Amino acid sequence: MPQYEIMCGIVGYTGESKAQKVLIEGLSRLEYRGYDSAGVAIQETDGIHVICRKGKVAELAHTLGHFSLTGTCGIGHTRWATHGKPSEVNAHPHTSCDGDIAIVHNGIIENYAELRDELAIRGHVFTSETDSEVVAHLIEDNYHGDLVEAVRLSAMRLIGSYGIAAVCEQEPGIIVATRKDSPIVVGYAAGAEGGAGAASAEAASSASARNGAGAGAGAKAQKGVRGSFVASDIIAMLDSTRDVVVLADGQIAKLAPDGVEYFDMQGKSCEVTHTHIDWDLDLAEKGGYPDFMLKEIHEQPRVIRDTLAGRMVGGALVIDELDLSPEELDLTDRVYVIACGTSYHAGLIAKNLIEAWARIPCEVEVASEFRYRNPIITPTTVVVAVSQSGETADTLAAIRDARVKGAKVFGITNVLGSPVARESDGVIYTKANKEIAVASTKSFIGQVVSLTLLAMLFAQAKGKLTTPQVRLLFRELADTADQVERILSDTDAIRDAALACKDAESALFIGRGIGSAISYEGALKLKEISYLHAEAYAAGEMKHGPIALIDEGFPVIAIATKSPTYDKVVSNLQESRARGAKIIAIATEGDEDIKNYADYVIYIPKVRDAFSAITATVPLQLLARFVAIERGCDVDQPRNLAKSVTVE
Ligand code: AGP
Repeated sequence: MPQYEIMCGIVGYTGESKAQKVLIEGLSRLEYRGYDSAGVAIQETDGIHVICRKGKVAELAHTLGHFSLTGTCGIGHTRWATHGKPSEVNAHPHTSCDGDIAIVHNGIIENYAELRDELAIRGHVFTSETDSEVVAHLIEDNYHGDLVEAVRLSAMRLIGSYGIAAVCEQEPGIIVATRKDSPIVVGYAAGAEGGAGAASAEAASSASARNGAGAGAGAKAQKGVRGSFVASDIIAMLDSTRDVVVLADGQIAKLAPDGVEYFDMQGKSCEVTHTHIDWDLDLAEKGGYPDFMLKEIHEQPRVIRDTLAGRMVGGALVIDELDLSPEELDLTDRVYVIACGTSYHAGLIAKNLIEAWARIPCEVEVASEFRYRNPIITPTTVVVAVSQSGETADTLAAIRDARVKGAKVFGITNVLGSPVARESDGVIYTKANKEIAVASTKSFIGQVVSLTLLAMLFAQAKGKLTTPQVRLLFRELADTADQVERILSDTDAIRDAALACKDAESALFIGRGIGSAISYEGALKLKEISYLHAEAYAAGEMKHGPIALIDEGFPVIAIATKSPTYDKVVSNLQESRARGAKIIAIATEGDEDIKNYADYVIYIPKVRDAFSAITATVPLQLLARFVAIERGCDVDQPRNLAKSVTVE
C-alpha cells in the first residue's frame, strides 16, 4: 500500500545559534497547519542526532530538553500523515543506512516503491512505512563527497512532488534543499547585531552567489538569529528575516552559516529572485491571504494533484486502501453515500458518476436520516461515508448501523485515524491537509476527486469503462487542476456578480444534473458565511414552486455550463428573467449566447460535464466569500457553526 506524505512542515537552520531552539521555534510557527508528529536532526560533533516524537512540538521540545545538543545546524519537520500511521518511526527526519544523511520531505514520491526495490537490492534497509525514507537512501547512494550533487542526482530520479532539505555528517554546517511542486523558501539573516550583509540589504534583487556576506540581498538586520534558513513556509523564519528566496521548481539551495548559493538541475550556479515580505504574522499564517478560506480555496489545484498522485499504476486505476478485489467491486449492486452538509453534496455528484459510468444504483442520503430508517442492505451493498473531519456524529452512527446490517463501509475522510477511518472497512484519505476555515472548500474538492476515482474504479471493475477510457478520464480529471488555477487567476467577474447580490435578502441557485448538485453547495456556502438566505433547486423544479419567489432584482445563480441539459437551463433563465430576476450564470468559455440570458456571466474553462463540479464550484465559493466580506462577516468563523459536529 502506498504510504504517502502530504503537505507537512519543513524548517532548517545553519548559523551561530543553537539549532535546537531555532528549529523548535520554526516548527511551532507551523503548528497551525495541523500535524501529528514532529522531529529534528541536529549536526553534533559526534554525528547527526535525530529525535522524533509523536504528538505536539511541545513534547518534542520537552524531550530535547533531556539532551544537551549544542549543534548550530539542523533540520526539522512536522508530519501530518494520511497514510502510514502517525508514529516515531514514520516521523521525519529520515536517515540513510549509516545515519550520515538525514532528510525532511514534503510531498509525494510517486515512484518510491520502484526506487525502494532498486535500493534494497543494493543493500539499503528501510525502517519506516513512508515514501519519504527512500529520499535519504537515494541521496546516500548518490553521495560521493558533494551533497549538492547527491541531492541533484537524486532529485532527477524522483517522480512526484517534493520539498526536501538534507544534511550530511561529512559536510558540517551545510543544508541542501530543493523542490518540485511543493514549496521551499530560503532566507539569510544578518541577525540583530547586523553584519556584513546588513548594510547592503536590498529586497527584490537578483543574485547568484552567496546572498549573505557577499551579495547581501535580503540580509537586512532584524530581531532574531543570524544564519541561513530554509522552510516550507515563510512564517517559520519571519522572526529572523523577511527577505527570502522562494525556490523555483528544479532549483537547489546550498545553505551555509554565512549565506546561500543557488544551483540549477544541471548543477550550475543560477540566478534567483529575492522577495521582501512585509506581511504581519497573522497574514503570514494565512500564506499572505487575508483569511484561511481564501487560502484554502487557492490550495485546491494542489489538492487535486495530490489526490490523483500515484493512482494510475501501469495504466490502471488503483485504490489499494479500499482492500476490495476487482471481483468484490464487480459484485457490488447497490451503493449508498451517506454524509452531512458539504460532504453530502459531494455525494450527490458521486451518484451521477457512479450511475453513469458503473451503472450501479446509488442513493445519497443525509446521515441523520439514514440512521433512523431501515434501508435495504445486502452483503453486496457498499456504503460510502464521506466526512472531512471523520468525526461527525450522525455519519458515524450511520456507519455503525450499516455495518451491523451487513454492508461493507468505506470512509472518505481528511483526517488520519479519525473515527470514520477507524470504523470503516476501508478508507480513502483526501489530500486536502488541515482545513481551518469552518466552511469547507478544499475538502469538498478532495472529496469530489476521490469519489470520482471511486466511480471510475467501479466502472473499471464492472467492465463498463475500458482501460483507454479510464486513462482518458483520468487525464482530463488531472487537467482540472490547471483549469481551477485559471479560474483563480482572474476573479473580477465573480466580484462584480457578488456586488450585485450583496444587498439581496435571498438568492436562488439552480442547475440540472451535476449542475443541481453544484447549486446545493453554492447555496450552502453563501448562507453559511454571508447569512444571506439561499436555496438551491433542480432547475426543472422552478415552475413547481420556487418561481413564485422571483420579483424585480431577485438573484438567480445558475449553473449554465455546456451540458446535455444546457438548453433546458437557458429556458429556466428566460422564465426567471421575464419575472425580473437578476441572472448570474456560470458558463463555459466561448459561450457568447449566454450573455443574452444573463446579467452577469462568470466564465469557466470547458471540461467534460462529469468534471464540471470541480470547476464550477470554485466561482461559487469565491462568490460566497466576496458577498460575506461585503456584508462584513467573518468568513473563517461564521456564527453558530463549528468545524466538527460531534453531537447529534
Ligand atoms: C461545510 O461548509 C460545513 N461546515 C458542513 O456542512 C460540513 O460539511 C458538515 O458538518 C459535515 O462535516 P464533515 O465533512 O466533517 O462530516
